Amino acid sequence: MKFIIGNWKMNGTTSDKELLLKSLKNVHTDNKVIICLPFTLLCGNDFGTTIGAQDISEHSNGAYTGDISGQMLTDLDVKYVLVGHSERRLYHNETNQIVKAKATAAIKNNIIPIICVGETADEKNAGRTMSVVKKMVLESVPNSGAYIIAYEPRWAIGANITPTPDEITAVHETIFKTLRGIKKENTPIIYGGSVDAKNAAVIANLDHVDGLLIGRASLKSDTLLPIIKSVK
Ligand code: PGA
Repeated sequence: MKFIIGNWKMNGTTSDKELLLKSLKNVHTDNKVIICLPFTLLCGNDFGTTIGAQDISEHSNGAYTGDISGQMLTDLDVKYVLVGHSERRLYHNETNQIVKAKATAAIKNNIIPIICVGETADEKNAGRTMSVVKKMVLESVPNSGAYIIAYEPRWAIGANITPTPDEITAVHETIFKTLRGIKKENTPIIYGGSVDAKNAAVIANLDHVDGLLIGRASLKSDTLLPIIKSVK
């Protein structure tokens, strides 16, 4: 079983959601499919697909205008939440410490955080990928509870380029060893960044790759279904 996790980012209306989730109903797959929707689309999930959110407040309630708490997400039957996506880190100044607090808040509410890490192009070019990713993992994960790590090199997101299979394997192995060092070796590690129907099966079957995080290609059934079907 591989995780196939869609990230809709700031896209989609109720009818877009209905179209996609209806099409997923008829797909037979052993993979665990999860679609992380914008907050506005989390309500009313009658389609049977597991849904996730894209952010969670580190606070449990109170005067935090615009934020959404773990309790609010659980109330809508949300089981997973992305935390520390590179766009949150970049546009909302989320540090590893904030990401850790958000992941901890998710776990407190029985929601599994999908903790995103990944190096920038400059860090890659400086040969710092492994040290950057290792630090991000160690500083972003909660002290206890189950979570998923998503490796998403920033330069591959929305870019139509991916690392080579060898590069992905090497980073995932580093993440695996880092997690083993804190006795979390059973944590799923998924890859994200320009996944499409052409590269999905190859990437998903690499060593230490437990699934995929998919942005653009998760928005429509004609791009998402071929990915789900190709990953065995
Ligand atoms: P992309 O986005 O698949 O469109 O590159 C991935 C992500 O940001 O999660």
